[in-house]
Amino acid sequence: MPFDPNKPYNDLPFLPPKADVETKAILKKAITANKALAELKGVAALIPNQNILLNTLALEEARDSSAIENVITTRDKLYEAMAISSQKIDPATKEVLNYRKALWKGFTDVKRKGFLSTNMIIDIQAELVETNAGIRKLPGTVLQNDITKDVIYTPPVGESNIRSLLKNFEDYLNSSNGIDPLVKMAILHYQFESIHPFYDGNGRTGRIINVLYLALNELLDLPILYLSSFIIKNKPDYYRFLREVTYNKNWEQWILYMLNAIESTAIDTSAKIKKIKKLLDDTIIEVKENSPKIYTKELVELIFHQVYCSINFLVENKIALRKTASKYLKELTAIGILREEKVGKEIVYINERLFKLFKKK
Ligand SMILES: Nc1ncnc2c1ncn2[C@@H]1O[C@H](COP(=O)(O)OP(=O)(O)O)[C@@H](O)[C@H]1O
Ligand SMILES: [Mg+2]
Repeated sequence: MPFDPNKPYNDLPFLPPKADVETKAILKKAITANKALAELKGVAALIPNQNILLNTLALEEARDSSAIENVITTRDKLYEAMAISSQKIDPATKEVLNYRKALWKGFTDVKRKGFLSTNMIIDIQAELVETNAGIRKLPGTVLQNDITKDVIYTPPVGESNIRSLLKNFEDYLNSSNGIDPLVKMAILHYQFESIHPFYDGNGRTGRIINVLYLALNELLDLPILYLSSFIIKNKPDYYRFLREVTYNKNWEQWILYMLNAIESTAIDTSAKIKKIKKLLDDTIIEVKENSPKIYTKELVELIFHQVYCSINFLVENKIALRKTASKYLKELTAIGILREEKVGKEIVYINERLFKLFKKK
């Protein structure tokens, strides 16, 4: 019988898939994807203060992952929000910042516990969407084509049904079964999106799980491989190949898509990190030469934690008290490292060259 997208997919098969997920094409692609990821792991270790990567890259991902489902916020607004007081942040920006919080919470939990459980996933989603609705209890959730409003997919219904699918997902994720971890990640992502356990935030939660899974398997030390930018650029395929698995049990294209996403993103991210490192080294030299009186490594590193910073940010990070912090930022502006800008009543300082580096896509 052909698949009926209007009926809840209560027959969603448990993992592992029955299909051959180790075809020649998949195994070949898995090798190059693993190589690119290993290189990224090495390059990331070159950055002295790992907060630099976490903050900047995770913020970009937060924006991109939210943008896949049309939570749009501009880069400038997002960066500004990091530097100004929280009550002035608009809802879309707040949503993006919640993504980063959820990602961070998931990462610390996974590192502490050494596994990823259903309850941890529920916590991540709660943080992300700021509700405690948890797993879907009522039917009615469907995936629709934005324009035609055609129903593309109706996920399984019934809390206990969803919970047993999640239990199977969790068992598969935490077990080692001889399948390449990157291939497993692709399989897991399909399965999670198909279970679609929540009323909302399933896409974003699923994409957070991907990077947590890589960290759990020590393929990365930090959550810094983010596929959303690739997915945005190749969005029709993302949706099409997910559907292909459901409708036609065509796993190969989906897995190849994800392996490609990993490889291409790992290569791009390595290049970006090398640029950040070079800019950081150059900036250290410049500040040492032009403002030796205020130079400290901590100060220069801190202006790389975020694209925008403020006096408060320096104070909070114990670089200096207000008056001195203000003097430092003015001095860094005078020698052309930072640019001063007014946001409402507040003054923020922009690390212009870092900003430009992220603007290039
Ligand atoms: N055919 C499909 N089958 C399963 N999942 C899908 C399909 N098409 C899209 N998705 C996933 O559903 C997500 C959207 O679900 P939603 O709960 O609104 O997540 P979010 O609010 O995070 O965007 C997409 O980002 C994608 O990951
Ligand atoms: Mg949504």
